[in-house]
Formats: sequence, C-alpha cells, structure tokens
Amino acid sequence: MAFRFADRMLAQLDELGRISESPDFLVRTFLTPEQKAAHEKAAQWMREAGMSVEHDSAGNVVGRYEGTSPDAPVLMLGSHLDTVRNAGKYDGMLGVIAPIACIADLNRRGKRLPFTIEVVGFVNEEGTRFGSPMTGSRAIAGTFDPAMLEAKDRNGISMGEAYKAYGLDPAKVGSCARKPGSVAAFMELHIEQGPVLEHNNLALGVVTAISGARRHRVEVTGLAGHAGTVPMGQRQDALLAAAEAALFIEKRCTGTPTLVGTVGMMEALPGAMNVIPGMARFSVDIRASDDATRDAAIDDVLREIEAICARRKLKVSVTELYNSTATPCHPALMKAAEEAIRAQGVETMHLPSGAGHDAATLAPLCPIGMIFMRCTKGISHNPLEAVLPEDVELATAALLHFIENFRTVQ
Ligand code: GLV
Ligand code: MN
Ligand code: MN
Repeated sequence: MAFRFADRMLAQLDELGRISESPDFLVRTFLTPEQKAAHEKAAQWMREAGMSVEHDSAGNVVGRYEGTSPDAPVLMLGSHLDTVRNAGKYDGMLGVIAPIACIADLNRRGKRLPFTIEVVGFVNEEGTRFGSPMTGSRAIAGTFDPAMLEAKDRNGISMGEAYKAYGLDPAKVGSCARKPGSVAAFMELHIEQGPVLEHNNLALGVVTAISGARRHRVEVTGLAGHAGTVPMGQRQDALLAAAEAALFIEKRCTGTPTLVGTVGMMEALPGAMNVIPGMARFSVDIRASDDATRDAAIDDVLREIEAICARRKLKVSVTELYNSTATPCHPALMKAAEEAIRAQGVETMHLPSGAGHDAATLAPLCPIGMIFMRCTKGISHNPLEAVLPEDVELATAALLHFIENFRTVQ
C-alpha cells in the first residue's frame, strides 16, 4: 500500500466499474438493477466509514456523518453513480468515493466537525436512459419537474413506470427536496474531462463556472417504402433530413468560442437495409459558456430543421428534454478550494467546466464549488478514461483539507 487513500479508492472504482448492464462495456443507467447494486456498494462503504445511510425518494444514496451542532446547515459533498454508454469508471464515481475516504479518515481519528457532512451518490446525472439528466440533484434542489416522469426510454418505458418497478413512488420523487438554508454548501470533486490541467502540468484545478446545456429530441416522419422501387426524386426519407440537420449543427456550432453542438443519438426506423426510413429520431445537445450564444444557435438549428423537413415534405416534432443555465461557482468556495489545493504543496489554476455537473443543479439551493482533477489526455465518456494514483491521493487530501477548514459562506 503506497498511498494513504488512493490504493483503496482505485480498487473501489474498479469494483464499481464492473457493475454494468453489458458484459462488454460499462453502462449503468437510471433505475436499473445495476444502479441498485452500485448504490448498495456505496452504502456499504459509507457505513464502514462511520456514516448512517438513507436511500431517498429520488433514488439517491445519502451518507451522513453527524457533526457536533445538529442544527447547523450541512456540508454536502458527492457526485453521480450513473454512466454514459461505453463509459469510463471515474466520471462521477471519483466524487462519491473521495468524500467517503475523507469521512473514513475523520472517523478513524474520532474527529467530528461543527456541522454534519452528507455524501450523496446522485442518480441519473447523465440522462443516458431517458434523455433528461440530473433527476437526483434536481429532486434535492427542489427543482424536480414531474413532467420529467413522462420521458420514455428506448423500450417505451416511462421514467414514472421505471420508478415504480424500482420500488419508489413516482409521485414522491420531489419529496427529498431540502429546505432553503439547510445546506451550507455543495462541493464536487470530478475529473476534468478535458486536457487543460494536463497541458498545464497540474493535478488539480478550481472550477470557475459550469456551462449551461440544452437537449432536444427530434422525431421526423416521412414515408417508408421499397428501397428498390421508389425513384430517388419521389422519396420521403426521414433519415436524410436528420443527416442534413446534423451537418447543419456542425456548421452552426463551429467557429464560435465555447459553442459546441452534438448529435449523439440517431435512429432510422423501421431499420432494415431494403426499407427507405419512414421515421428518424435524433438528439441535439448544444452548449456554450454563455446562455445567449447557446440560445441563438438553438433558434437557428430549430429553424433549419423546420426548413429541411418542409423542403423534403416531412413532418417533424421537437421536444425539449433539458435546459440548464450557465452557473458560476461561489467565490468563497473557490478560494477555499484553492487554499486546500495549495496546502498540499502544489500549484493550481482556475478553469471553467464545459461539461454539466450535479453541482450546477444544486446552485438554487446553496453555494456550490468544484475541484477538477487531471485525467489522462483529457479523455472522458470513453473507456479509455484514466487517472494517476498520485493525483487521486492529492485530490482526496485536498478535499479533506477543504472539509476540515470549511466555514459557512454567505
Ligand atoms: C454530463 O456528463 C454532461 O455534461 O453531459
Ligand atoms: Mn459524464
Ligand atoms: Mn460526471
């Protein structure tokens, strides 16, 4: 055992990385038996670390380490335990395992702080199954919209039905909302998911702001037909409209700093080699560090999709699945994070997050902050995601310093 924290943590991250819906790659989505198994594992480690554990009405797993002043607002830490398809094993999970390691250390030393600490393993940060992300953090923030329960997965199962099958009441998802003033701050440790820290030869960074994102699902309806008999000029091919839309998104989002657009899912139906696609579904994910830039791009994209479909004599329906605004981190938490990192004897820098995080969703509830940890080549949302054990050690020591020196911020 070369490291005080990292050896055990990396073994735990490997263990979580093996809990997957596929034998071939890591995918662990919302309200599945694999989610339950991962939450049970996290709950076991939380208990071993000296916490009491609750599974809340939204499905989040919440560990509590009581402080000496039971009425003081709690310090909340954590991140998500769900993944994208063909995921890496550090996105989200690091931010759950690290605070558990910190609490285990406090507990071993018999140290209690003047505030209670909660460690949350959030459900559904990614939105992989239903398209709508951040369900767990929204429920805790008090911004869960019951309309989200109507979203359907690729098998036509709604989020509400999936909640019932999981053993939770969909009507009560939002009842774990925290009272205003009851959470002093939320701090999330996360891999950077980009190359900036590595490029600057730094292990840890302080996040300044989290980009907003909007997601849409688009469904185009044409006319299915025989691939061998319908002349090219007489087709109503829904997939070709989707393809044109994807290329327009690339063009519109290229060349504007921080603006990015992605079509990550596209489906042709009925899905046979010799049938002209009568229907196509695709996703649109557009982000920027300022909301006006992002919204202007989305307006143009939606107008172009209408125009493409009108020209091709197709019907189109567009559903917005997610809309989050750009969120600044709290200056006092940024300062405390910076001090915690420097206390480890290393340099650091400030940087924005292009990815979305539970921290942004919690901003209406409490001041938020984030610490980024370098990941190899900046690769994420990919099984090649990798971290250095010495960075994990440093990140956890910095988080522990942050916790032990935490003062309520105004
Ligand atoms: C979460 O990973 C997101 O930014 O989509
Ligand atoms: Mn992710
Ligand atoms: Mn993440």
